[in-house]
Amino acid sequence: MKIAVVGATGLVGSEILKVLAERNFPVTEIIPVASERSVGKTVTFNGTDYKVVTYKTAIEMKPDVAIFSAGGGTSLEIAPIFADAGITVIDNSSAWRMDATKKLIVPEVNATSLTAEDKIIANPNCSTIQMVVVMKPLHDAYKIKRVVVSTYQSVTGSGKKAVDQLMGEREKADNIEMAYPHKIDLNAIPHIDVFQENGYTKEEMKMIKETNKIMEDDSIKVTATTVRIPTIGGHSESVNIEFENDFELAKVRELLAATPGVIIQDDPANNIYPMPINAHGKDEIFVGRIRRDESQANTLNLWVVADNLRKGAATNAVQIAEYLLKEKMIG
Ligand code: A2P
Repeated sequence: MKIAVVGATGLVGSEILKVLAERNFPVTEIIPVASERSVGKTVTFNGTDYKVVTYKTAIEMKPDVAIFSAGGGTSLEIAPIFADAGITVIDNSSAWRMDATKKLIVPEVNATSLTAEDKIIANPNCSTIQMVVVMKPLHDAYKIKRVVVSTYQSVTGSGKKAVDQLMGEREKADNIEMAYPHKIDLNAIPHIDVFQENGYTKEEMKMIKETNKIMEDDSIKVTATTVRIPTIGGHSESVNIEFENDFELAKVRELLAATPGVIIQDDPANNIYPMPINAHGKDEIFVGRIRRDESQANTLNLWVVADNLRKGAATNAVQIAEYLLKEKMIG
């Protein structure tokens, strides 16, 4: 497989290269693409250096798949050019997610909806991915009525500039370039992506709309509050789920334990629960603090943590490519 990685010099792009190598994806050639200012730089994949090229050169090199993580504007503009050239695009940006003609895929939940005709496939928002993988088996068993989610999100979700802001503040550096409208170190900013007319942020609305689209069920009600905190290992989520039907906690644990890609870390007596510092660099989604919401019937509380650059972005995109390969939709 010839794989183009558009945004190869960025945080998610570099993670995509790592994940492709770790999972032994059958790569014959990597085609790294970035903005004009990075052309000629090199990126390393599996010990080999590859020169960064423009997207036009990348298309001429006829990759089998292009995995995009270069922002929504870039995706809107150039993903269709790749698709028209017959190259399957897996896009990490929000550009195509809510487009009714594009599939929004989390392999554990809805990969079977993909066909060879899908030339631009959208990768969901990081916060949504880790939540829906956990919701799916529970929805199938008890039917979810409503979800109340609050997030505690890593600065890595805002790209390199944000990591530099946090580290710069810690090191008391001069002339820090601000990725956020406020200091992030020693802070919590309840503002991710832009505010919408209804008072929610775009990140919060993504969690709501994308969940309904991926679960193929608009009857699931979702409300979200998304918060940026000064951590880098991954996103954490407090998820409160109300079901149509009652459940047994032991059965919930059993269902989650049997879900591919989910690991239960739930032993409060020994201080064991998911934390971003432990999720960092891992492909799995960690679930703990599994308990009943004692304030109302049929309701569950969970704490869900995953590395947003991994399952929230790179790993999910590579898993989509693996599915396409397995089903002979690429190559
Ligand atoms: P560059 O390094 O040349 O700016 P991050 O989200 O970590 O900041 O990364 C964004 C990624 O998207 C980088 O690899 C960046 O390249 C890339 N990028 C930005 N604009 C474009 C563009 N117009 N075409 C291709 N890649 C782009």
